[in-house]
Parts: sequence; C-alpha cells; structure tokens
Amino acid sequence: MNYINAKHYNFSNVKFFSPMQLSQHYVLYTRYVDSLNKVMESLSSDKTYSTCSPNYSQVRSDQKAKTYCYDAVMLHELYFENLTGRNTKMYGQIESLINKIFGSYENFIDKFKCIGLSMHGWVLLCYDRFRDEYCIYGQDSHDEGIILCSEPLIVMDVYEHAYMMDYGINRSEYIDAFIANLDYSIVNKRLSSLIFEKPSNRLNA
Ligand SMILES: [Fe+2]
Repeated sequence: MNYINAKHYNFSNVKFFSPMQLSQHYVLYTRYVDSLNKVMESLSSDKTYSTCSPNYSQVRSDQKAKTYCYDAVMLHELYFENLTGRNTKMYGQIESLINKIFGSYENFIDKFKCIGLSMHGWVLLCYDRFRDEYCIYGQDSHDEGIILCSEPLIVMDVYEHAYMMDYGINRSEYIDAFIANLDYSIVNKRLSSLIFEKPSNRLNA
C-alpha cells in the first residue's frame, strides 16, 4: 500500500487570515491524511471480511470512510493550493472564460458567493466533461455532491472551521477574504491542463 503524505503550503502572502486560523485548518487537513492512510490500510487487498452487511459491518464503515477522507484530502489540497494571496487579479484564459460563461466577473462572483452562503461544505467552479460545460457546484459534505467527470478549477471551503476564528459566523466577510486571496495563476494552470475530450468521444474512439 502507498501511504500518502500531507503537502506543505506557503501562506506567507495570504491576507485577511490569521496564522492561527490557517494553521488550525492545515492541522485538520493532516488529520484527514492520517485517517485516509489508516482506512486504506484497513481495506488492503489481501484482507477478507467476516461480516458483509449494509446495516453494520467493518467493511461498510471502511468504504464510507475511504470516500469521505479521500475527498476531504483532495478538496483541502485544491483549496490550499488556490489560496496563496498571489496573482489575485483575474487574467488570461479564466478571465475570458468567466466573461463568456457568466457575463462578467461581477456576475460570477455574485453567483459563487451566493452558493457559498447557501452550502455547508464546499463551492467549486468545475469543467464538466460529461456535459462539456462550466458549472458552479455546492456540496454539504466532502463526500456528498461529488460530480463524476468534473474537473475543479476554483475550490472554496465554507465549513465554519475555515473561518470561525477570524470571522465568527460572518461567512460573507470570509468569502470576500477568500476571493481576495484567490490565485488566478493556479486557476489558469488547472484550466490549461484540461484535455477537452468528453467521455462519449472516448467511448466512440
Ligand atoms: Fe476545511
């Protein structure tokens, strides 16, 4: 089994967040990494199961935990990666795309923020490979609302742990702070790495 290690992030340019808020959030992420390694060990390929039950069984618990922890790790890595405080003015490919899809930067931000104020967990701007379109998705949990064939471009954590120390229950100010630190070079990099090929095209090939 391949154990995964927590990634490291440089928060030195991040504005409007205290070091304590960022460090506590990072620690929470490392605990998801630890839990994922434990559950992957428990689900190792050579293991057999004594009980198979949808009501109560170790394998059911492990399967649920695997998806939950895996998505928690991936979402937090995407979040920390695009929260740098550098390159915060929208430009390039993402600017053209947002103006084309949402009409204007202001419209996009209004919509992104409104969804952020309406969900319990995450907000993502994604490219949906299956439908060949760009959408903003909201999730209430790490493992709820997962969209297959979608590629995250912008990822925002809206769980209270992401902002409660600095902003109390004022999520609106937190979202403004997140947007002020969003790194568009990372977003452009994600966008340029997409291969625009729908699953149906691959199946027909
Ligand atoms: Fe988080």
